[in-house]
Amino acid sequence: MTTTEHAPTAAGSGSSASEAFRAAARETASVPAERVDAVARAVLRGVHQAIREHDVTYPEFQAAKQWLMDVGEGGEWPLFLDVFVEHVVEEVAARSQDGTKGSIQGPYYLPDQETLPWQTKLPMRPDEKGEPLVFAGQVRDLDGTPVAGAELDIWHADDDGYYSGFAPDIPAGNLRGVVVSDGQGRFEITTVQPAPYQIPTDGPTGKLIAAAAWHAWRPAHLHLMVRAPGHRTITTQLYFQGGEWLDSDVAEATKPELVLDPGPREDGRLGVTYDFVLERA
Ligand code: DHB
Ligand code: FE
Repeated sequence: MTTTEHAPTAAGSGSSASEAFRAAARETASVPAERVDAVARAVLRGVHQAIREHDVTYPEFQAAKQWLMDVGEGGEWPLFLDVFVEHVVEEVAARSQDGTKGSIQGPYYLPDQETLPWQTKLPMRPDEKGEPLVFAGQVRDLDGTPVAGAELDIWHADDDGYYSGFAPDIPAGNLRGVVVSDGQGRFEITTVQPAPYQIPTDGPTGKLIAAAAWHAWRPAHLHLMVRAPGHRTITTQLYFQGGEWLDSDVAEATKPELVLDPGPREDGRLGVTYDFVLERA
């Protein structure tokens, strides 16, 4: 097989992301008719307004219809919605949230990863590319009390910007794990620096981005979900100072409080500390 056959495709990540979305356990919200009416009407009003404002023609309407069908058939709705819409849902959720700032979950979370001790190295290939990074810190509650036994569910892209489970040839569970904080709420995770992430360019989402002359990049980031009994789970991302695309994230999911600035440690490796603050549930 050639390398090209193994390059990740939009269809590949799209269908894996759709599968992961369908498999995830979630509460099915029962939404009252008045709310469906209000929100659906507002969405349609927005579409109607755009058509009037921009004198949208029949050929353009049909092209849009074709594109929407393609996004669905390619399984790209989770990718598209998490890149272009989720940040606003998070912004609304954040109105009632204290402690560490949240950010979008994105389409590449996978549950049930390996449980790891507080001081650990993420599962990675023996020849994993990328600059080693030691990510350490403490989990506390709003009063500053350390949270022992908190779970830091961490996942991130590799040095090529690809996620295990969503791109071919990366072992299952690579650069993913659930790290449990120690008696003082501490953790020290050795991993590698992720690369920036590019939305697959060969599918309908990529086609829209190219047609509109946008760029398809997210800055390099670590994904985290931090959980502890009796506390509100925080889902967030951490970025890197000076990183490319930090000021023009296509997913608009960066926040100044979520930017890490790693530096050399005494042992010569690159390291950074970040403390998480959880609210009581
Ligand atoms: C998408 C991918 C990500 O890695 C992320 O963090 C957010 C969104 C996406 O392709 O939709
Ligand atoms: Fe991501």
